[in-house]
Amino acid sequence: MGLPQGYTFRKLQVSDYSNNYIETLKVLTTVGEVSQARFEELFAHWDSLPQLYQPHVITNEQGVVVATGMLLVEKKMIHECGLVGHIEDIAIATSEQGKKLGYTMITNLTQIAEAAGCYKVILDCSTHNIGFYEKCGYTNGGTQMVKRA
Ligand code: ACO
Repeated sequence: MGLPQGYTFRKLQVSDYSNNYIETLKVLTTVGEVSQARFEELFAHWDSLPQLYQPHVITNEQGVVVATGMLLVEKKMIHECGLVGHIEDIAIATSEQGKKLGYTMITNLTQIAEAAGCYKVILDCSTHNIGFYEKCGYTNGGTQMVKRA
């Protein structure tokens, strides 16, 4: 199952600040005010730890960002210093949903994690998205606990 013609899966670029990256993330949750300077500072931090932070996007035929997804690869002590992949911040632009972009984002990030040697990949989601992640090959692995500040 591939992307529609003209769509591209690639790593986040610093120029994506003004290429609909922030707008796409707003489909997921509150982003708030993020200036270009703050974006570039965070991008540089992610870029300094490229094995840990692996932000990706999908662009459409016009080269505009229409999907976001972050893969974090955690180096653990357990499982003989095993690696665990964490998928975060999946957002598909509202007008682009239903075109398998979400499926492609998840399966591609999962393949990257597995190629890096992760023994599992985990993510948190709302109950209304369980069916989507099941279509991507994931199973319900438990309960999320949260304590907000
Ligand atoms: N529940 C059940 N099935 C679903 C759902 C859902 N909420 N959404 C999509 N599907 C199904 C589709 O019907 C399709 O099924 P098919 O293969 O039988 O045709 C399959 O899942 C793949 O669908 P896609 O077209 O790839 O889905 P889309 O590109 O629209 O992305 C997503 C789905 C990511 C949930 C999108 O709607 C979105 O961005 N929603 C708002 C933000 C959000 O909730 N993000 C996920 C947060 S969780 C996290 O970040 C780890």
